[in-house]
Amino acid sequence: MAPTAVLHLRSEDKHLEHRSALTPTTAKALIDAGYTVNVEKSPVRIFDDDEFTKIGATLVPTGSWRDAPADHIIVGLKELPEETFPLKHVHVQFAHCYKGQGGWDTVLARFPRGGGTLLDLEFLQDPASGRRVAAFGYSAGFSGAALALKTWAWQLTNPGKPLPGVESYPNEDALVSDVKADIAAGQAKNGGKPPRVIVIGALGRCGRGAVDMVKKAGVSDDNIVKWDMAETAKGGPFKEITDSDIFVNCIYLTSQIPHFVNRESLKDADRKLSVVCDVSADTTNPFNPVPIYTVATTFDNPTVPVDGVENPPVSVISIDHLPSLLPRESSEAFSGDLLPYLLKLNDWQNDPVWAGAKKLFDEKVGTLPASALKE
Ligand SMILES: NC(=O)c1ccc[n+]([C@@H]2O[C@H](COP(=O)([O-])OP(=O)(O)OC[C@H]3O[C@@H](n4cnc5c(N)ncnc54)[C@H](O)[C@@H]3O)[C@@H](O)[C@H]2O)c1
Repeated sequence: MAPTAVLHLRSEDKHLEHRSALTPTTAKALIDAGYTVNVEKSPVRIFDDDEFTKIGATLVPTGSWRDAPADHIIVGLKELPEETFPLKHVHVQFAHCYKGQGGWDTVLARFPRGGGTLLDLEFLQDPASGRRVAAFGYSAGFSGAALALKTWAWQLTNPGKPLPGVESYPNEDALVSDVKADIAAGQAKNGGKPPRVIVIGALGRCGRGAVDMVKKAGVSDDNIVKWDMAETAKGGPFKEITDSDIFVNCIYLTSQIPHFVNRESLKDADRKLSVVCDVSADTTNPFNPVPIYTVATTFDNPTVPVDGVENPPVSVISIDHLPSLLPRESSEAFSGDLLPYLLKLNDWQNDPVWAGAKKLFDEKVGTLPASALKE
């Protein structure tokens, strides 16, 4: 058995990022397995610092990862602060530098320049199935469906006005109660009728989250249409979508498919549809099967209207970071899925999932221009 490692949880640096790659639950499991877990004090993390001290983690100063011993593994969620010094550690995080993103070479080159390694969480895959071992999908669908229900109620109680900005919720119960209260107010204005919701991609991670949210909000099963591949095989656009009040799109788009809904199908004289939450958010993808909007919305301005569509108007939610609405539960779910692999970090070179991430890192480093590797 390889000696156990020291894990160092960074405080996130990105504006309004309250989520965390390790939670008190997963940190405790790692400590119980013999790991040392150092946790940076954090003013932004959804979990209070003392939730970590209670389970035996050691608090260390914010930003102290920079000076941690070289054999400590630095664990975080999102990008490192924009700095240029070479990186000497193994970093476990989402770095967003493998798909040619702006500045990818500068970000990636810091690792080989310092002898460090990036094990990118976006590309941790089970070698047998090729599926990601941990993703934020469930919380994305859950949060997206919650905002869709809130928008439906808002349209009824505040006609003509866009849904105001929303902030993250301290926990799922707070979100569910808020949505339930909104639905009750909306239903009162709707002759007592609840919303009818269609979720497409219902068997996937996002789709399961969306269906669970709608159920928890009190919508009965006969008002929830759950579709996946079998139901869309006949090809859209689908009347079942315009016959529903709310459409939550949760598919994983891999190829060109017929539109699910488009400006033409919105012209249906019997249309009820007034809210679309495009959790898949393939906003700029030319194959987007929901081509009724062109911009990504934000928590500050959650909806965008479909231009020129009235009676009823249609509001689209296309936020691409939905899990941030529920930082506590989304962190718990993600970190929980990751835990079996975190427990292998003491010998990560010999674990197929981490070794796969290292192989990809080496390949990407191999594509760096020589100029990026210079100081
Ligand atoms: N907006 C956000 O904040 C956010 C967050 C996480 C994930 N996502 C996105 O959500 C999408 C889904 O992610 P996931 O983790 O749930 O994927 P997943 O693979 O777990 O599930 C996708 C589901 O879509 C179904 N599907 C695929 N094509 C379909 C079609 N033509 N008709 C009907 N069903 C179809 C699949 O059978 C599967 O059940 C991805 O594009 C992902 O990038 C968005």
